[in-house]
Amino acid sequence: MGGGDAEVAHERTLGMAARLGTLPPVVAGLRRYFGRATPRTVFGVRFPGAVGLAAGMDKDGRALRAWPAFGFGFVEVGTVTWHAQPGNPRPRLYRLPASEAVINRMGFNNGGATALAERLRALGPLRVPLGVSIGKSKVTPVDAAVDDYVSSLRALEPYADYFAVNVSSPNTSGLRGLQDRTALSELLSALTTPVPLLVKIAPDLSDSAIGELVEVCADHGVAGLIATNTTLSRAGLAAEDVARGAETGGLSGRPLTARALEVVTLVAKETNGTLPIIGVGGIHTPDDATRMLDAGASLVQLYTGFIYRGPGLVRAINRA
Ligand SMILES: Cc1cc2nc3c(=O)[nH]c(=O)nc-3n(C[C@H](O)[C@H](O)[C@H](O)COP(=O)(O)O)c2cc1C
Repeated sequence: MGGGDAEVAHERTLGMAARLGTLPPVVAGLRRYFGRATPRTVFGVRFPGAVGLAAGMDKDGRALRAWPAFGFGFVEVGTVTWHAQPGNPRPRLYRLPASEAVINRMGFNNGGATALAERLRALGPLRVPLGVSIGKSKVTPVDAAVDDYVSSLRALEPYADYFAVNVSSPNTSGLRGLQDRTALSELLSALTTPVPLLVKIAPDLSDSAIGELVEVCADHGVAGLIATNTTLSRAGLAAEDVARGAETGGLSGRPLTARALEVVTLVAKETNGTLPIIGVGGIHTPDDATRMLDAGASLVQLYTGFIYRGPGLVRAINRA
């Protein structure tokens, strides 16, 4: 499928989910089929199921009534930025079906933190916890990033059950530098909030950089880590997809499974299991999810696996 087509398909899916979400009998029927799951409490929040929708699928929270009906026990909206922004020029989303992978360089296309806050206010309470992923606006220089994040945090604080501090997207220049000790420390010091704050990390950090980051996060009393974001690596692509693999952006899906699991394992070891982890990256089967949970994750999230396998995957993991 071509780059432009992949994004059109994504928009169609999102539009359909948004419409389904407005039909209460449909939502109730779907929930009966997909909804059964085992609840758990993590960082003080009660989750009706352990499988969440990862950030980026519903950046502006357009289909929030639909996702729980497909069996998701929580939803992470965003990444949103303080300033509304169009993201990178299209095409910017590519499917690599032989590899069950996706490459994206969306660049935080979103309607901005204030618009999301307004939509969430109008929507009222949801059936599942809502995570809100915040990132840096493109127009904001990296040395002014802290205020940009803080503005989004303040606007969305009334609606978030947790915040994900996104310092790991490869598609915003300079963003991943915020994972470095000094920058991260400064950012986390400024992000004071009663809402649980989680940090989402890149799979491309070295093991020692992950150790250092975990230490900074623990020092600042973060509620947990989300591991991982997309990778810049192109290892593990099927031969048919190698040419497309030359596209700039973050790779997700099957090729990420092993590294994401490795990062979750490492983080759990570094923290002796004391810091909750949301495991994400290449979960395409119930076994993948089980391995993440066994490695120390308390919750998991799906994006690319959901694209290729559909809501049946959420149901299968919930039942496993
Ligand atoms: C099209 C696309 C857009 C994404 N946008 C975001 C985003 O805005 N913020 C974020 O933290 N992660 C974003 N991600 C990363 C996912 O949340 C997830 O961490 C990553 O894709 C690995 O999981 P997966 O292999 O199940 O897709 C995006 C991923 C894709 C494929």
